[in-house]
Amino acid sequence: MYTVYKKQMEVDQLETVKVKSRAKINLTLDALYRRADGYHELEMVMQSLKLYDSIAVKKTAQAGIVLQTNLSFLPTDERNLAHRAAKLMLETFSLAGGVQICLTKRIPVAAGLAGGSGNAAAVLAAMNQLYDLRLSLKELMELGLQLGSDVPYCLLGTTALAKGRGEVLETLPDCPHFYVVLAKPDFGISTGAVFRALQAEKIGCHPDTAGMLRAIAASDRAGICARLENVLEPVTFQMQPQVAKIKDFFLSQGAKGALMSGSGPTVFALYEEEEAAQQAAQQVKNAFRIETVVVTETVDKGEQGYGLSF
Ligand code: C5P
Repeated sequence: MYTVYKKQMEVDQLETVKVKSRAKINLTLDALYRRADGYHELEMVMQSLKLYDSIAVKKTAQAGIVLQTNLSFLPTDERNLAHRAAKLMLETFSLAGGVQICLTKRIPVAAGLAGGSGNAAAVLAAMNQLYDLRLSLKELMELGLQLGSDVPYCLLGTTALAKGRGEVLETLPDCPHFYVVLAKPDFGISTGAVFRALQAEKIGCHPDTAGMLRAIAASDRAGICARLENVLEPVTFQMQPQVAKIKDFFLSQGAKGALMSGSGPTVFALYEEEEAAQQAAQQVKNAFRIETVVVTETVDKGEQGYGLSF
């Protein structure tokens, strides 16, 4: 546990904590029904990726939150989930002074890769360490859920089954290794707008979640690829037909499997060989003239999470 913790968090002079905030993909995403509170009851198999944003959180004597990022178009005030996470921690625990957060983004923004939720989770975990709050994973997840449905999963990482709004989590055996190509068209998608357009009661074909769990437990790559399914695809495809075209392109070029992640618009494709992944990345870039194409990999338990226990 300690080794994992040190790998993810570098403590520098006890006043700065550096953390990795990893991207995630959905191997399945099912919506069972719309709940009375407006959220959807979900069932999702989640997988963390090597691709990460770097976050350094530093204590400051002066009150307030200063957030700096490498992307000029990103808001650095309360519209940014990392900022909101810091505010929640400062207020909930009446912490003295303030924090300075340095966020280096590599994960595409508004992409369906939980970049923002991951940043919020990373700030919660970093501040837990920085202020020696000793909060358990469960306590941090409860705080995280106030910020977004994917934040509890981002605190856990690993291959996991998420239910409820996304906060009822069960760690699964590691997914077998894949190279992952992420292709994000040059537009963002609002998760809220996709869920609002979803008619959960009319979904004809639900993912085979139980089959996906069996395939993961058996390290059955073909079985995993055959069961990639996301009920939000038809909604996003209707809004942005290019997303469907990218998925079809990956499959026609020999990807083992391809799927839209989250509410999109990123499409991911899975490969066993790095060379095939690199080649597909170049092909999709050329065919669709999109800038944001990343080759990454799945990670296993040894490389992810914040070393927190329930
Ligand atoms: O929780 P979060 O703010 O990330 O969710 C964004 C939007 O996605 C929500 O406003 C809601 O419309 C939708 N959503 C949903 N059911 C979920 C999670 C999110 O309908 N389980």
